[in-house]
Amino acid sequence: MRNERINAAFCGGAYGDEGKGRIVDEYVNNYLMLGKNVIVYRDNGGANAGHTLELADGQRIALHLLPSGVLNPNATVILGKGMVIHPGDLNTEINEVKQVNRSKKIATIMVDEMAVLSLDTHRAFEAALKNWQEGSRGATGRGIGPAYADILLRHPLRMRDLVDFDEKKIRSHYKLYQALLDGLGVDIKKEKVPAYGLLQPIEVGSEDEFVQKLLVETKSIRLYIKDVYKYISQTWPDNKYAYVFEKAQAIGLDPRWGVYPDVTASDTTFEGFFSATDGLIDPNQIKIRAAVIKATYMSSVGTRILPTIMENNLAAKIREDAKEYGATTKRSRDIAYIDLPALRFFSEVGRTNCHVLTHMDVAYPNIPITVCTRYEIDGESVKYRPDQEHLLKVNAVYEQLPSWDRQEIQKARYYKEIPKNARAFLDFMADSLSTEIMMITTGPRRDQSIKITDK
Ligand code: IMP
Repeated sequence: MRNERINAAFCGGAYGDEGKGRIVDEYVNNYLMLGKNVIVYRDNGGANAGHTLELADGQRIALHLLPSGVLNPNATVILGKGMVIHPGDLNTEINEVKQVNRSKKIATIMVDEMAVLSLDTHRAFEAALKNWQEGSRGATGRGIGPAYADILLRHPLRMRDLVDFDEKKIRSHYKLYQALLDGLGVDIKKEKVPAYGLLQPIEVGSEDEFVQKLLVETKSIRLYIKDVYKYISQTWPDNKYAYVFEKAQAIGLDPRWGVYPDVTASDTTFEGFFSATDGLIDPNQIKIRAAVIKATYMSSVGTRILPTIMENNLAAKIREDAKEYGATTKRSRDIAYIDLPALRFFSEVGRTNCHVLTHMDVAYPNIPITVCTRYEIDGESVKYRPDQEHLLKVNAVYEQLPSWDRQEIQKARYYKEIPKNARAFLDFMADSLSTEIMMITTGPRRDQSIKITDK
């Protein structure tokens, strides 16, 4: 096994918060046990993500920028070129992770010098935009859209600008956003923006204060900023290393494939790895490309209106039982029935080759599992399309499947111990999505996961 090339990638197969973080964590441990040097590579999104990890002692920690394997001292985690990174948030998050991990030893962290900065200026601009247009109203307020827009407008600040501390460039960035906000009738200095770890938002401040703050933050994070391209060139072809790829957000939030306009700004599919590594890593070379979805329901946080939205007592019960509140914004998540037309579409365009089903324990023996099998408009079958207007018109057609006992499935350790109805449900999902269900989870603890196939 030592010389075999192994790697796996995990993405959100629905609308986010499917529980990817703990699967990544599990694969990191598995690959370390095989004697590999494990690298966790994240290539998209920024502080909009939220991976809640349950630690062995029951503590929970929400990661936003750092990839999931960060608590493991033997792993290397990379924040890739496709990410947009807030230096202040990154600094606070690293300190928090060090505190939580009592041994103080955490993974080796590498931040790509090419990763783009997402700053308080972007957060202020995004907040101001919300008063002018609908599109970004559901956004997390972490300035993700404006930071990615900087790339298309060809004036991004990158991590390497911090290393050299290109003050002229940083000042001209502030001036540009000051002018943009002025135009929208907002004083950038006084605009309040969220900051990781603080309950109250903080003011962006003057140009001098902005530069000064960035200088201080740079001193703490400079040691993590590296030539990641070179590191990947050396490690990717070498079988001593095993890569675990972690996507943030989900395909249902992708700007091209999600419910437009309430979408995020980064490539949430496996193809993103190709561009983030400047062509070094072709996603087709990744053996496991798993879409992670919740097994019995879906959740969504934002303003999108899903065709299978569940608005009854069951939704409230699931929300409480499965703690369905946003890890980043604490917003209460919408709960929806499983939507096969959407999930099938996401799996196709996302270039996935298998699925992981989480939350198999969110089931009630007397309440059947309701699944949307197709959409109709005026009696005619139609497909999912990435457009809110279209999705408002469709009627979801449902089927019901028998449920199972939560406690029984939580106790199961092997496939054969899974309740019969749950096994039938897995077959139904594999057929409906034309996929292989390679793994399920039956509770939040690390030991509550079951491998279904050998992938
Ligand atoms: P943005 O990524 O902050 O621009 O937000 C765009 C949309 O994606 C909003 O509806 C957010 O709620 C949603 N979103 C962004 N990140 C996540 C995530 O990690 N989980 C779930 N929803 C997310």
